[in-house]
Amino acid sequence: MRFDVVTLFPQMLAGYLQQSLLAKAIDRQLVSVNLVNLRDWATSKHQSVDDRPFGGGPGMVLMAPPVVECVEQLQQEMPHGHVVLLTPQGKRLDQTVVERLAASPRLILLCGRYEGFDQRVIDILEPEEISLGDFVLNGGEVAAMAVIDTVIRLVPQVLGHEESARQDSFSSGNRGLEHAQYTRPREYRGRLVPEILLSGNHEAISLWRDEQAEQRTRERRADLLKDR
Ligand SMILES: C[S@@+](CC[C@H](N)C(=O)[O-])C[C@H]1O[C@@H](n2cnc3c(N)ncnc32)[C@H](O)[C@@H]1O
Repeated sequence: MRFDVVTLFPQMLAGYLQQSLLAKAIDRQLVSVNLVNLRDWATSKHQSVDDRPFGGGPGMVLMAPPVVECVEQLQQEMPHGHVVLLTPQGKRLDQTVVERLAASPRLILLCGRYEGFDQRVIDILEPEEISLGDFVLNGGEVAAMAVIDTVIRLVPQVLGHEESARQDSFSSGNRGLEHAQYTRPREYRGRLVPEILLSGNHEAISLWRDEQAEQRTRERRADLLKDR
């Protein structure tokens, strides 16, 4: 799977790409991430990609020509890619959206800054607009990393144990919250690991986990049970 990230701050993502699961996935050529500096697409002699908003008001707006022309150039390569624009005004990212995005062979992620994008970027490119939630970040980079981080878990072979992603909270194999997890030591500050998990009886363990997950979901996120 390929990601192209269009950003004014490629270095923000560079460190993240060199760590943990993502670094391994890139190394094993399961995933590739192409960082594109929007500044390289500036057309003015001062290399600016933003300007004051028509009609007045605070802040700056990302101009349409650099963004549109950058994406059109990227799309000359196959597969054309699904364009995702990160914005607090978009559809909320959830596991259903993540699973759909993971089915695409290529995502082109557009990170905004300042007051966001000139509306014509959206009108011309018709991207899918995605939000991390009802809060305002300084830029789309953190949101792009969240998209990459959630999607790569679903790319075959990245986790090394595919079952794990199927059991994760919110995933289509689960739809609720995952059960509680325990590891060594068996006792910590007087708190014991539930006996059943030490029994070696896989059927009983699986049943206990299902019940645990159901109870947690009912207590914390009853809304999820309605959608099942
Ligand atoms: C300061 S924000 C602009 C917010 C914009 N003025 C508004 O009120 O909708 C700058 C950029 O950060 C990113 N961003 C901010 N909050 C976000 C969120 N909740 N989800 C995804 N991206 C976000 C977007 O790319 C946005 O263009």
